[in-house]
Amino acid sequence: MKLYNLKDNSEQVSFAQAVKQGLGKQQGLFFPQDLPEFSAAEIDELLKLDFVTRSSHILTAFIGDEIPKAELEVLVKDAFAFPAPVAQVEPDVATLELYHGPTLAFKDFGGRFMAQVLGKVAGNQPVTILTATSGDTGAAVAHAFYRLNNVQVVILYPEGKISPLQEKLFCTLGENIHTVAIKDDFDACQALVKQSFDDEELKKALYLNSANSINISRLLAQICYYFEAVAQIPADKREHLVISVPSGNFGDLTAGLLAKSMGLPVKRFIAATNANDTVPRYLDKGEWAPHQTVATLSNAMDVSQPNNWPRIEELFNRKGWSLKDLGHGVVSDEVTKDTVRELDKKGYISEPHAAIAYRILRDQLQEGEYGLFLGTAHPAKFKESVEEILNKELPLPQALAERADLPLLSHFLPSDFAQLREFLMKLAPKQ
Ligand SMILES: Cc1ncc(COP(=O)(O)O)c(C=O)c1O
Repeated sequence: MKLYNLKDNSEQVSFAQAVKQGLGKQQGLFFPQDLPEFSAAEIDELLKLDFVTRSSHILTAFIGDEIPKAELEVLVKDAFAFPAPVAQVEPDVATLELYHGPTLAFKDFGGRFMAQVLGKVAGNQPVTILTATSGDTGAAVAHAFYRLNNVQVVILYPEGKISPLQEKLFCTLGENIHTVAIKDDFDACQALVKQSFDDEELKKALYLNSANSINISRLLAQICYYFEAVAQIPADKREHLVISVPSGNFGDLTAGLLAKSMGLPVKRFIAATNANDTVPRYLDKGEWAPHQTVATLSNAMDVSQPNNWPRIEELFNRKGWSLKDLGHGVVSDEVTKDTVRELDKKGYISEPHAAIAYRILRDQLQEGEYGLFLGTAHPAKFKESVEEILNKELPLPQALAERADLPLLSHFLPSDFAQLREFLMKLAPKQ
């Protein structure tokens, strides 16, 4: 597989390189040179396969022989070790539940596949993943890399500033997962990570790598669950399918559009955002004018400069598609709350991100169409806000409940680079 840098097309890299490097020169995103396509008959055959087998076909179509198909299938099986069920919400609307993985969010698919692939392409070379988290990313990264050979993970987080349940989710694992509570805020944690990457001696000794969220391996993994959704939808609905995607950095939507570009029958996509509406305004007015980011109930979508957008523009250009055909809409916090209540009355407990996707889908779905919205996180991940909106208690899902009583294994450090460096150096593999 060859990929090029969207900011400098002369920079071309292999899949392995793109996974190890994350970003290209000038912080440019990598994009596939070849966009594989399946015929309608091939798609029909693919849709009959199980999730893991089908996903291996899809990923091989991109990755090619850099990872032999049989080996890739083993990685996919380890990464996608949980289901992505479609649940019916109304006669003409269903949701794709992407929150049945270990950290109860769609990030488990991309994060776990990236971990598997990185383990593979790094060969016998040890790797240390160093990252800072305000909660969510840490959990996904920790679980994705847990117990992988040759990989150490160090996660910094602000002491006392993440929810106790979040902390339990990733600070009770131990083994190759080292969690460090820093006596400061999230910005201080990020600054310490940055300082570590600027320290050439440290970088070399530890083989430092950041598990970057715009890594191409994550996007490729996400394509697979759109196929899984269509496979579960009755065949007569497939041609009329409209998919609504709650969007922040627009990675999930990019993956959906790539699935469509491969031949997956999707009539249209809807980009659903909260008040951070740079893309909907751009699609309406043709002007890219990000505002200051505002805090909303759907906080994982509080992004005003979505970093995957250049990939979407590139795909539309390459395919000769028009951005006029991309559905879009914006939902306020008030309407989000009303929608969580509305879904609850229909017997479906949702959370703010998915509720936004449902709202715009419901409002824009036309006669004869069939709608699907993505459920990107388990409602219990947003327990406080959902309980307040619905005025009732949510039971803890097993993944959280079973960690709630385990002891925390975190180390505690002040916000001091010298002390962090000393801690990290002790983890350096013997040369
Ligand atoms: C629960 C949830 N929903 C939606 C999104 C938005 O996804 P994307 O950034 O790929 O647009 C995120 C992103 O972190 C998320 O955590």
